[in-house]
Amino acid sequence: MKTKADLEISDATADDLDAIHTLEVSCFPAPWRRDFFESELQGDSRLHLVARRDGSVVAYVFAMWFFDEMHVNKIAVAESERRKGIADALMDRCLEFARTNGISTVSLEVRQSNSGAQAFYEHLDFEPTYIRPRYYPDGEAAVVMVRHLPW
Ligand SMILES: CC(C)(COP(=O)(O)OP(=O)(O)OC[C@H]1O[C@@H](n2cnc3c(N)ncnc32)[C@H](O)[C@@H]1OP(=O)(O)O)[C@@H](O)C(=O)NCCC(=O)NCCS
Repeated sequence: MKTKADLEISDATADDLDAIHTLEVSCFPAPWRRDFFESELQGDSRLHLVARRDGSVVAYVFAMWFFDEMHVNKIAVAESERRKGIADALMDRCLEFARTNGISTVSLEVRQSNSGAQAFYEHLDFEPTYIRPRYYPDGEAAVVMVRHLPW
């Protein structure tokens, strides 16, 4: 089985947009439009990473920060590549970035029904903090999960 050891993680670029968007559409019921990703790539205070295997994008994370807070807007891993530690490796990079930039809180929203993603974040010591009702376009609520960093 191929593992995360074969992965290459790097900053996302405009050349990755098609692959990121294809993955987004396959992973989310209400995917971001391609131009959302494009404008994120051009924004300030952003961290956007892709994981590649054999040159192909298999996962990405898009995060932003504001003073001492980071918000993870998106993380996704291709279905065939899940449970190999790839999201862990991407979040490690985000948390390391937070550590070296004095960020003390990392937060995100996750669908209330997305128990797999909630389990993933709990495994990284994120705590469910409050509910945002009707957060998603189809009316589903979001669970806001937060991790306070010890440094
Ligand atoms: C959530 C997601 C990003 C996790 O990616 P992944 O690469 O499979 O996660 P990892 O392999 O790094 O998981 C690390 C640990 O998190 C936990 N975990 C991850 N996915 C889980 C799941 N579906 N159910 C329960 N625990 C899970 C486990 O403890 C896992 O360790 P283990 O495999 O040794 O048991 C992936 O399932 C995904 O892309 N889902 C669709 C998009 C999505 O929902 N994104 C999050 C939106 S907020």
